[in-house]
Amino acid sequence: MSIIINEEKKLFTLQTNSTSYQMKVDDLGLLLHTYYGKKIPVADMSYNLNDYYLSFSPYDFIGEGWKPHSVDILPQEISTFGNGDFRESAINLRQADGSLGLELRYDSYTVEKGKYSLEGLPSFYGDNAETLIVTLKDKIYDIYVHLYYGVFEEYDLITRAVKIENKTGESIHLEKAMISLDFFNGDYDLVTFHGKHMKERMLQRNSIFYGTTSVGSTRGASSHMQNPFAILCDKEANEEYGNVYGFGLVYSGSFLISASKSHFKDTRVNVGINPENFNYEVEAGGSFTTPEVAMVYSSEGFGKMSRCYHKAIRNNLCRGKCKTARRPVLINNWEGTYFDFNADKLVSMAEDASKIGIELFVMDDGWFGKRDDDHSGLGDWKPNERKLQGTLKKLADRINNTGMKFGIWFEPECISEDSDLYREHPDYAFKMPNRKPSESRNQLIVDMSRKEVRDNIYNQLEKVLNSANISYVKWDFNRHISDLYSVALPKDKQGEVFHRYILGLYELLERITTNFPDVLFESCSGGGGRFDMGMLYYMPQVWTSDNTDPIDRLDIQYGTSFAYPVSTMGAHVSASPNHGTARVTPLKTRGIVAYFGTYGVELDINKMSDEEKTEIQRQILEFKKHYDLIQYGEYFRLQGPFDETKYYTVWEVAKEDGSEAIVASVRNRNEAGLVHEIVKLKNLIPDKFYRINGGEQLYLGGALMEHGLKMEYDFFEYPARLYHITLSE
Ligand code: GLA
Repeated sequence: MSIIINEEKKLFTLQTNSTSYQMKVDDLGLLLHTYYGKKIPVADMSYNLNDYYLSFSPYDFIGEGWKPHSVDILPQEISTFGNGDFRESAINLRQADGSLGLELRYDSYTVEKGKYSLEGLPSFYGDNAETLIVTLKDKIYDIYVHLYYGVFEEYDLITRAVKIENKTGESIHLEKAMISLDFFNGDYDLVTFHGKHMKERMLQRNSIFYGTTSVGSTRGASSHMQNPFAILCDKEANEEYGNVYGFGLVYSGSFLISASKSHFKDTRVNVGINPENFNYEVEAGGSFTTPEVAMVYSSEGFGKMSRCYHKAIRNNLCRGKCKTARRPVLINNWEGTYFDFNADKLVSMAEDASKIGIELFVMDDGWFGKRDDDHSGLGDWKPNERKLQGTLKKLADRINNTGMKFGIWFEPECISEDSDLYREHPDYAFKMPNRKPSESRNQLIVDMSRKEVRDNIYNQLEKVLNSANISYVKWDFNRHISDLYSVALPKDKQGEVFHRYILGLYELLERITTNFPDVLFESCSGGGGRFDMGMLYYMPQVWTSDNTDPIDRLDIQYGTSFAYPVSTMGAHVSASPNHGTARVTPLKTRGIVAYFGTYGVELDINKMSDEEKTEIQRQILEFKKHYDLIQYGEYFRLQGPFDETKYYTVWEVAKEDGSEAIVASVRNRNEAGLVHEIVKLKNLIPDKFYRINGGEQLYLGGALMEHGLKMEYDFFEYPARLYHITLSE
């Protein structure tokens, strides 16, 4: 039992393998948060709650005597504006009478087997979880707030979502709809992941201060610039030690994550849809559901938290056939040809690729409409038969005849002004009245909040997918949303457009992934601009970054690994010098970095020497040999790329039982007279002997973990090594 309820005390305790989480209804009917942290036997943790009041904090009275009770200094299970709590609120609700008051009191609860689902929104799923729903009601109005909890014991994962139900008989407006979590302490750091196009998810760590620290996106997409994932942690927390709390938002639109430290040193974390440009009407009898927040607590630092997220995302968020089946090794023509190709060129690439073991050919941007550069064509999802030298089916058959599967690129959410679709339906694009919309990559955004627009796009895509043997789709999104305005909504509902866009996108993704269950979908947004748990519900892999330089990828994949598993990270070997950085790197290094992702190739294979092709062939065999270990093993960041005192970035993937591991190292810094670096390995069996890369020498597991392993030195720039650690007989 992971949900334990003491009816008499109105005490709700959630237990996972290593976590306890608790809330309690107080004498006024408020639902207070009493504990979140290391697992302990069930006990009433309300003894630390404040029973005094502070000046300038409003209060209510409990009981008969003069006993003040300040909502402002009590940890709330969900925080609202307009009830005397001055801290950053999670829910701001404008009543029909115009007031912003919401005073929630306990109403009822239910427990269900299995994990709840959220209509129209992505969320973790599975029978290996339990659900608790606690219902609160406004003191005055018939507004019900249902707090959803999903408890996955084995991953130390607790998910939360909130549904606001309006039974008042009149419309109400949500001006903020987030999830809050209150902590009794204020001495924390906040770890967030910022970035830009071609440099996503750079780790940033700061102390929280008196006031509010926040990161977010107002771009209509989760974005390259901030990821909807953050960690609140002890100041001394590291990979192995300390209390850490992960917050992953299962959402792909504008978001906000904030941590506020109050004057009495508590902390409140708010996570959810960005309240900027958000104003949602909930009609009489209607409801609104927030996106889900996935929380993992670890008392053993970041590493354990990441490993919990990795398993949960792989097993209980990603869906479809490709969730567990080995994904094909692909070649994508983008960095090989950009827009400059025809069918003969693609087939010639496929022929070379097939000979060395590549399994899937992906035709990227430029195959449709009028599209020889990025100024036109988006929206016209009809094959350009001049460029394809025949029908799409003919090209797919030619590729299939080389022994490879065939995949294709789409960017369904964008539209070029120079396209037939735009000429026919200029209103399909977001535009504000009387203003010229701003272009970004010469394109506008399709209003996905409108059903008829989604249907048009769906029908076009369906036709293409049914016209040829297509096994893979790359779903791209190459700009952010400005000029937000939907012609389909009245003026007082324009604050709903951002969220309605995402709901529309999710509906379209659900439709297409359900109707094409055999197709592997990869999400992309100028690389990793929408690498979030929302997209992963529909597509099990994401193109991690347009930056394919393996040394830059060390930073990017390192940051990404805090929440997201290797199996979700699209990673390709590309040409050297790299097209984004001009850096020259060994082919072996490019391969090793791409192994810790989906591994693919993205270059003009026709231009490779025989020697290089043989190396790629060797890499594919090596990658496939270690596939299960790498994709499903336990991931350890042994040495990060940002530590300026270190020369190697080193990581390890180990079998859970410690019987096998693979360690990868890349030397990303160099200097003359470099001393050897010794790195301590993880998750081996202390009293068993191991071999490295099948060599003669035996190494004791305990020694490799406590004394470490010396990284071999290579006298050239950016060398990489793999150390395959196996039990000796
Ligand atoms: C984006 C993607 C690239 C490529 C181009 C095509 O930038 O991230 O991989 O598909 O679009 O225009």
